[in-house]
Amino acid sequence: MPAIEANGLTKIFGRRPQRGVKLLKEGADRARLRREGLTPAVIDATFEVAPGEIFVVMGLSGSGKSTLIRMVNGLLEPTDGVMRIDGQDVTHLSAAGLREVRRTKVSMVFQHFALLPHRTVGENAAYPLKLRGVNKAEREARAEEALALVGLKGWGGSLPSELSGGMRQRVGLARALAAGTDIMLMDEAFSALDPLIRKEMQDQLLELQAELGKTILFITHDLNEAMRLGDRIAMMRDGRVVQVGTSEQILNEPANDYVAQFVADVDRSRVLSAGDVMERPVAVIGPESGPKAAHKLMREHQVSSLLVTGRNRKVSGVVFENDVADAVRQGSDRLPLSGEPVAQVSPDTPLAELFHDAAVSRAPLAVVAEDGRLQGVIPRVTLLSALSVPATDSADTAADGEDPADGEPVLDAAGAK
Ligand SMILES: Nc1ncnc2c1ncn2[C@@H]1O[C@H](COP(=O)(O)OP(=O)(O)OP(=O)(O)O)[C@@H](O)[C@H]1O
Ligand SMILES: [Mg+2]
Repeated sequence: MPAIEANGLTKIFGRRPQRGVKLLKEGADRARLRREGLTPAVIDATFEVAPGEIFVVMGLSGSGKSTLIRMVNGLLEPTDGVMRIDGQDVTHLSAAGLREVRRTKVSMVFQHFALLPHRTVGENAAYPLKLRGVNKAEREARAEEALALVGLKGWGGSLPSELSGGMRQRVGLARALAAGTDIMLMDEAFSALDPLIRKEMQDQLLELQAELGKTILFITHDLNEAMRLGDRIAMMRDGRVVQVGTSEQILNEPANDYVAQFVADVDRSRVLSAGDVMERPVAVIGPESGPKAAHKLMREHQVSSLLVTGRNRKVSGVVFENDVADAVRQGSDRLPLSGEPVAQVSPDTPLAELFHDAAVSRAPLAVVAEDGRLQGVIPRVTLLSALSVPATDSADTAADGEDPADGEPVLDAAGAK
């Protein structure tokens, strides 16, 4: 069951919102609604967030992100559509019902921290529990635990004014954690922070997520942040969700020109990882095979090298076409293993970290699982073409890595690194 489920969710501001719904259903555009004094902030949003997922909502200012998140936590009632939390329809709950959902199911981290200035850090972290009537001893214990989780152990007695911006936002995070809800909503939670601190907070959120498995709905207008954090990303434009997908899908299969332009200047080398671009390891041969078999395999797959794997699919070396051809001519029956190293990387290594390895050996990179088994290969040409922005009408070309020309302009940029 999804943790959050939006179905045709729509919010229209103005005096006659239902008229706006009707107009939209008749195919009217935003300009038409505006002429009637109606603002369609969110239009027909449909998506599901799985338990334990980090789902990022991404879009320019005014695209409807905050309106969307406020319908999720019940601060705004949808004009149309259905909103479910843990399968429960919360669209038209009474005020009391909504409070209950808010207190037990979702907590929120705000951009400007929203700390109470005259309360201590500990009291701030414990505040939602106080509202819920949790007794003092328990809420202090839970607040302390949450502060420790975000790296603020020992700061409970301080006032917010004694903390830096980054630390204050950690208090905001601790407050959401202390509340103990499974769902956390974060609206531009890191946007007010300096870049370095912001990156630290992103790392910390990912760590917490790995540890606690919360469902997180994270709003940002920063694409790099979206790509770093999101298991999936929903791209919003003018109130509509125009694409939902993994960062890789958004990068390589943008649903339209708008998304394509949006992602055009993303640093692909930091967003994509080895596992995203690796190819099936077909050009692989066992150590007992001879040069003839190697030669045949190379011709079959049109490659100039083969990885050699031993027992348990562990990589033991590489052979190159010239050496194999020589061995065949000389009638040798042993594979002419090259002395060149084969770099072995894990599937989640960012592409940016692969260039060095790719530069020092002609062999393709071997992508291996934790136990050392070969999972995929990355020929150099694939690495380079993965970095080039796909054209919207032929999104597969670069992703398939079949067109070396695509990668060439990138070579200089990457090589100069
Ligand atoms: N209470 C309101 N009354 C009228 N219009 C509103 C209200 N809240 C938001 N809007 C309008 O709805 C649209 C979407 O606003 P929203 O705040 O959801 O966008 P956003 O994506 O969060 O933008 P930002 O990145 O600037 O925070 C905007 O046109 C905004 O002016
Ligand atoms: Mg907003």
